Amino acid sequence: MLTAVLVTVVLPVVLLAILAGLPWWLPARVVALRVRVFERINGDEGIPVPGDLVPVERFEQVYAHPAAGGRSKGAALSDVFWYWLSPGPEMHQEHLEAGGAYDAVARLTRRMLAVRRAEAEELARRCAGRALRDVRGLVRLRDLMIPLWAEFSYELVFAEPCPREARDLIAGNAADVAASLKCTSLRHMGRRDRLNAYLLRNLHRVRLPLPDGLTPRQQAYYLHGAFFTTAVVQMSEAMAHLLLALARHPAVQERARKSDDRYLDQVMAETMRLYPLFGIAHRITTGDIELDERTTIPAGSVLCFNYPAFHHAGCPDPDRFDPDRFAGPGAKDLNHIPFGVAANRPCPAWRLAPIVMRAVTREVLGRYVLDSSVTHTRSMPHRGPCLLTPRGAPHRPGRALAYLRVRDRWEDVWRSLVQLVLGTYMVWDARRLRLCERHFASDAPENTHAHPGSRHSS
Ligand code: HEM
Repeated sequence: MLTAVLVTVVLPVVLLAILAGLPWWLPARVVALRVRVFERINGDEGIPVPGDLVPVERFEQVYAHPAAGGRSKGAALSDVFWYWLSPGPEMHQEHLEAGGAYDAVARLTRRMLAVRRAEAEELARRCAGRALRDVRGLVRLRDLMIPLWAEFSYELVFAEPCPREARDLIAGNAADVAASLKCTSLRHMGRRDRLNAYLLRNLHRVRLPLPDGLTPRQQAYYLHGAFFTTAVVQMSEAMAHLLLALARHPAVQERARKSDDRYLDQVMAETMRLYPLFGIAHRITTGDIELDERTTIPAGSVLCFNYPAFHHAGCPDPDRFDPDRFAGPGAKDLNHIPFGVAANRPCPAWRLAPIVMRAVTREVLGRYVLDSSVTHTRSMPHRGPCLLTPRGAPHRPGRALAYLRVRDRWEDVWRSLVQLVLGTYMVWDARRLRLCERHFASDAPENTHAHPGSRHSS
């Protein structure tokens, strides 16, 4: 009798209770496990900054040190980034070592991004108008933003309206890179190679002369990396964070809608402080860095600059979303480097990105009331679920928000397991392929080097 009660009543109740509790404890444990697995595979080559060796007070000084200049060569971590940014990571501006090729592409990127403010705003508004046409109800903000920034980048590079074919290729590539970086999907080299083939066919239509020291394939890889991967992924991610923060903080949203750009700038700054796009940027030291008489970071060390840790340090109540912290005199004392440090390869879009983000945010706020009840983390693997209600339409988000909250919790359980499995596989696969290490081990000059990033692995 007792056994029957145990099997038919107690056991199901216990199992149900465990199952119902999963969303509250499993995702965090799986994330912690993923971090441990990654550390295990990657080894302990990196020096965390800030950390035991470099205190937070010296973070910017060490980042800006002339010897903190190596970008890819000599770090196992680079194999992982090259894998995620294939094809053509060897021509991606972010990962090129200093030298003639780097100087040439960095110069061209600066020229491409040197658009007049009014023109940039107008282009951003036009792209937003198209992306938002007929959109309402539940959306994923990153998915909404990717086609917008695909068209924006295309016009920046080609100075003509973006054809449907190109927009789909660019958006497919960016979504694939973003998903694989977050380990919610494997990389799909077919999508990426198709975009590259398109760029190769259309190099002659780029609005500025491409560096003639590069082969056509290298030119296509450069454009692919800087403008059709990094620009689209970063802008979509930054806007998804900004809009999700506004959706989760209705009072901030209302104030941003009514205020001038100063308040919106504070909201952007606070969003990028709390959710910086870079988790870690690494550098390989090209010479010794002397910290004091007894401590030297030797040449060849891998420095891992931790943006979230730096942004949190010294900030009162650092996890609270509070745009007003950027209003007072204390703002200048906050650790805040959303676009990197000026002395060491900062983001070339540091001027343009806030201008066009502001313009697109105004378009969105002018058309919709935003609501969301999902969690907001830096990696945002859920792509920013959000309810868009056209302004002037009845606004009763209660039921949709309750649904979003429950769905988000449960999706998190499944997603965290997917991330663990796919992430482990990709980091292992990247270390197996050793794209970066093999590139630098090869004797072939840059121009004739085989393109290791094109190897298919999924
Ligand atoms: C809000 C949007 C963006 C943010 C927050 C951002 C952030 C950053 C940061 C922090 C770095 C420096 C990383 C390091 O020190 O290793 C960087 C580098 C870079 N970013 Fe951005 N970025 C954004 C948008 C863009 C856009 C629109 C482009 C367009 C081309 C772009 C292209 C690059 C490139 C090429 C680099 C490498 C620079 C170099 O090594 O010379 N970024 N970005």
